[in-house]
Amino acid sequence: MIPIKKGLLGNHRRIVMMMDLASTCDIDCRQCFRTVEDPENARMSLGQIDTLECEVFPYINQLALSCSGEPLTLRNFREGLQAAKRSGIPFTRIQTNGTHLSEEMSEFLLTEGLDVLGVSIDASTKETFEYIRRGASWDTVIGNLRAFRRAREQHPPHGTSLSLNFTLMKGNADEAVDFIHLGAELGADTISFSHLLIESWEMREWSLIYEPERLNSLFSDLRNAGLEVGIPVGVPENISERVIPFERVLGTSLPIHSGGCSAAEEDWVFLLPNGDLFPCANLTNLKPIGNVFETPFKDLWNSESNQVFRSEALQGCVVGCDRCKNFASTADPDYEQSHLARRLTTPTLPGIVSEEFLELCVTGT
Ligand SMILES: C[S@@+](CC[C@H](N)C(=O)[O-])C[C@H]1O[C@@H](n2cnc3c(N)ncnc32)[C@H](O)[C@@H]1O
Ligand code: SF4
Ligand code: SF4
Repeated sequence: MIPIKKGLLGNHRRIVMMMDLASTCDIDCRQCFRTVEDPENARMSLGQIDTLECEVFPYINQLALSCSGEPLTLRNFREGLQAAKRSGIPFTRIQTNGTHLSEEMSEFLLTEGLDVLGVSIDASTKETFEYIRRGASWDTVIGNLRAFRRAREQHPPHGTSLSLNFTLMKGNADEAVDFIHLGAELGADTISFSHLLIESWEMREWSLIYEPERLNSLFSDLRNAGLEVGIPVGVPENISERVIPFERVLGTSLPIHSGGCSAAEEDWVFLLPNGDLFPCANLTNLKPIGNVFETPFKDLWNSESNQVFRSEALQGCVVGCDRCKNFASTADPDYEQSHLARRLTTPTLPGIVSEEFLELCVTGT
């Protein structure tokens, strides 16, 4: 029997939950997974948000209330954030495209005490922004951020920090350093740069990982610019001279990643808007741990399949994962596979996987 290192869930908070209240988005960014995959249409009802408040949120220590969709267009967004705050989750954040960050919404977020407002921009000029973030208006988003800053100044004491995001690609790399200066002007508390996760073979052309010298030199400029403006700037670690290529052999056996797993080390769960619960966003084509609207969260966490998955993963054997991806701190950026979305590297797409195979992915035996 494998020893369970972290063990069962008692009556205390320790879980990091990443979720979306609905599957939708109002714009169409070129790099988004939505360009190649239609997420199943789902939106949580108010009754389901009540269930989260009573049965799930009491165990959550950190909550990302939006990960894969756009939160600020949703009719149930306010109820979701209020439920999280009422249940006493110590840390809440959202990630948004900023198009619907109206003055009234800014006031709501500040009043509710959202901890981090993450806004994705990916550019420092109108032209590049509107090319990448198709359907969004630069003037609107930048105007919204300026209004958020004013509202925040009128709102002391407030606990909401502003974090700006920039996904690095060939098409916007020349604007990355300027983005730090723009962020300072907009009142950002932190600025984060991340690698592109390659969602289709076409996107491989946009990635900077195949030009490590250029990428590492850019990282160095970004670190220096961060020091200049005095804002914490998150920049990925340098990558090696040659990223180890993905061998394009799609076997039919169960993928197993050998190495670190943030999901196990930090007690992650990833919740889809239909209630299906997974240990990580990279495992959503496997069988879920269960559904939070059908089974109490504590029972799902304590279930044998979840406990076995986590204890194996803590020992460096991550059953069902092809390789740790670059959204996790345990990913190894020197491997191309860390930068490739799972759909490009494994045959385990829904619909082509046998029941027997899915059983394997859950039990790992
Ligand atoms: C999918 S979005 C959902 C939240 C919100 N709609 C937004 O854009 O911020 C979450 C984050 O993923 C980033 N993102 C989108 N496509 C990406 C890709 N291919 N590689 C890396 N990050 C990506 C977005 O820029 C955003 O910061
Ligand atoms: S706004 Fe976010 S969810 Fe919507 S398309 Fe862009 S990256 Fe994807
Ligand atoms: S991508 Fe795989 S290894 Fe990385 S956190 Fe997720 S499950 Fe763990």
